Amino acid sequence: MTRILITGGAGFIGSAVAKKLMDRGYKVVLLDNFNDYYNPRLKHDRIKKFLKGHKFKLYKGDIRDYKLLEKIFRKEKPDKIIHLAAMAGVRSSLSNPKLYADVNIMGSINLLELAVKYKIKNFVFASSSSVYGNNKKVPFSESDPVDNPISPYAASKKADELIAYVYHHIYGLNITALRYFTVYGPWGRPDMALFLFTDAIIKGEPINVYNYGKMSRNFSYIDDIVSGTITVLDKCKGYGVMNIGGDREETLTRYIEVLENCLGKKAKKKMMPMQPGDVPSTVANIRKLKKLGWKPTTRIEKGIKNFVEWYNEYYGI
Ligand SMILES: NC(=O)c1ccc[n+]([C@@H]2O[C@H](COP(=O)([O-])OP(=O)(O)OC[C@H]3O[C@@H](n4cnc5c(N)ncnc54)[C@H](O)[C@@H]3O)[C@@H](O)[C@H]2O)c1
Repeated sequence: MTRILITGGAGFIGSAVAKKLMDRGYKVVLLDNFNDYYNPRLKHDRIKKFLKGHKFKLYKGDIRDYKLLEKIFRKEKPDKIIHLAAMAGVRSSLSNPKLYADVNIMGSINLLELAVKYKIKNFVFASSSSVYGNNKKVPFSESDPVDNPISPYAASKKADELIAYVYHHIYGLNITALRYFTVYGPWGRPDMALFLFTDAIIKGEPINVYNYGKMSRNFSYIDDIVSGTITVLDKCKGYGVMNIGGDREETLTRYIEVLENCLGKKAKKKMMPMQPGDVPSTVANIRKLKKLGWKPTTRIEKGIKNFVEWYNEYYGI
């Protein structure tokens, strides 16, 4: 039975990927430090409630702790790794650049070192659409230059891609960097727009609409992201960088409108200028991943509805 180590396994994407892999009969080992970047209660509930009824091993610990990682590798003997643990906020990276470098870069190097030592067959890790910075050419394509990140977070992900290439080149590791584009859905992250908007609209509070609403995204539904991540885990060899996201460019204004429809309530919009570190448009060219037979299927009308249903149930609304 294939054994997969998922770092950041109590996170939004990690827990969802874990569930799907276990449904498919993989043996899954999760590692997470349950940090308080957002309320760790949600992370514990993903483990306790969302993954209820599944059998897996869970380690509470930090990817910066090499000794602990070595213990896990020795004991669990993973065949493949999905490395998702990271400090994941663009804005918080501006005030904590050292922490972002420490976790996202040094933590990743620990895992790459052990991946070589324990002959891991495939190493898939989370990069981000933010590596594209203020790229003017839309949609963003993997062959575009990404030498101008505009936040410490983005720079840490770009650094991960470079270091991963070294480990592929020197040691022949199979590695794919997945550049995720704005993921949303049930059990999602409380620091991201959909969660913040839903919370505020329900409470009758204003929502901050940055860049005066002139933003567009390939919003990516969690189930599509999960199936794309597993496709890469199963099929990719060598070194690769891959965009993974929805296949439609949606404006922030439309996203809010769909949310208002699902909630049956209008938002009080506070129009704001652009925030430092943020980018007005992240739209993905996903042709490369589609060639592997994957394609996203969830429209925002369905995805946001699913999110709102989950939110209402989880918070007892
Ligand atoms: N959600 C998105 O839209 C998105 C977009 C681009 C990239 N990504 C990347 O995908 C990955 C997963 O994102 P997510 O949305 O699930 O975020 P998340 O914050 O929900 O999950 C990350 C998990 O990693 C854990 N973690 C953080 N630091 C750790 C450490 N030092 N040791 C062990 N565990 C640690 C956290 O506790 C958390 O549970 C991240 O690498 C993120 O940067 C996400």
